[in-house]
Amino acid sequence: MSGDNTTVIEGRNLKTHFEGRNGLISAMLGGKSETVHALDGVDLHIDKKEIVGIVGESGCGKSTLGMTLARMYEPTSGQILFGQQDITNLHGSKLKSYRGSAQIIFQDPYSSLNPRLTVEQIIREPLNIHRIGNETEKAARVAEVLNRVQMPPETYLHRFPSNLSGGQRQRVAIARALVLRPELIVADEPVSMLDVSIQAGILELLNQLSKELDLAVLYISHDIATVGYICDRVAVMYLGRIVEQGSSDDVMHSPLHPYSDRLMAAVPSIDATASRERVHLSGEVPSPTNIPAGCRFAARCPAATALCHTVEPELYEARPDHKVRCHLYLPEDRDLRPDLERPKAHPFA
Ligand SMILES: Nc1ncnc2c1ncn2[C@@H]1O[C@H](COP(=O)(O)OP(=O)(O)O)[C@@H](O)[C@H]1O
Ligand code: SF4
Ligand SMILES: [Mg+2]
Repeated sequence: MSGDNTTVIEGRNLKTHFEGRNGLISAMLGGKSETVHALDGVDLHIDKKEIVGIVGESGCGKSTLGMTLARMYEPTSGQILFGQQDITNLHGSKLKSYRGSAQIIFQDPYSSLNPRLTVEQIIREPLNIHRIGNETEKAARVAEVLNRVQMPPETYLHRFPSNLSGGQRQRVAIARALVLRPELIVADEPVSMLDVSIQAGILELLNQLSKELDLAVLYISHDIATVGYICDRVAVMYLGRIVEQGSSDDVMHSPLHPYSDRLMAAVPSIDATASRERVHLSGEVPSPTNIPAGCRFAARCPAATALCHTVEPELYEARPDHKVRCHLYLPEDRDLRPDLERPKAHPFA
């Protein structure tokens, strides 16, 4: 299931901060403008044919990560490599060309397709914008991608979105994303507005396209069950940072971070062991305008100690290819702050 080890996209210590929505007014009134640390130091790579899942509660920065890798947002700092090319600060025609290689599929297939255009016109549009092909070549490409998404062109070319089901609309959105022959697809909650009965078909299609077309896919979802279904690797985000990452199997079935543990326990199909108690998380997610010192999860973690409240954990390699940002996995022989008490035992194990 995994990729072929050729990295398509890599983010290094990526940060994307926004000036808070009240920033300007508050600054005019003499207050401090608020900076939203939406994405706050993320390292991530995706290989060809690989699907990497991003999970975490609403507001943790998943969409900002996707938009930043696709360069719809310019990162505040850090670096993005697309193959050998540094695309962190591209602009003008080079940025436009990169955006052709990195396509986004959005959540809502009802608002993302222009209701006045036919399926053919919708899929042709990116080719027009990027000035690719003559009329014959354009028609061939449109037919090719419609076949790829299993919508026979002879049936669907001249239909309008209003004559399509939600699943068919999302297939058209995928076809439009494919028509420029991208290398990266950011799928941001692509099935969360669709009927459960058709979700699996769309996910299976994404999986198949990734393998057949050598695509790197970033699959963003708050629905962890769908992530386990198609992802090769999974990263769990909390307050702008990755707190755990590893193979989909490891993270879903043996989560190590207390936060991931609670996320997975909330999914009935994953947490089949009757002995695991359903403990729900208490406390609020801290505001991304006011990041606490130390571990960002400490306010909600029953195991938190002085070390947790003072020093932010690194991503420790707790098991081979399975990293976790929690001091429970601080190697015994590392004296980070010997004066501060370490957390002793996993709070939910
Ligand atoms: N364009 C923006 N301007 C200001 N704040 C934003 C913007 N986009 C997202 N945010 C804020 O950044 C944080 C992360 O948002 P987002 O990436 O959309 O999270 P998720 O996709 O995980 O729900 C949230 O606090 C959100 O309100
Ligand atoms: S044990 Fe400490 S470092 Fe680990 S999640 Fe809890 S508060 Fe954070
Ligand atoms: Mg989002």
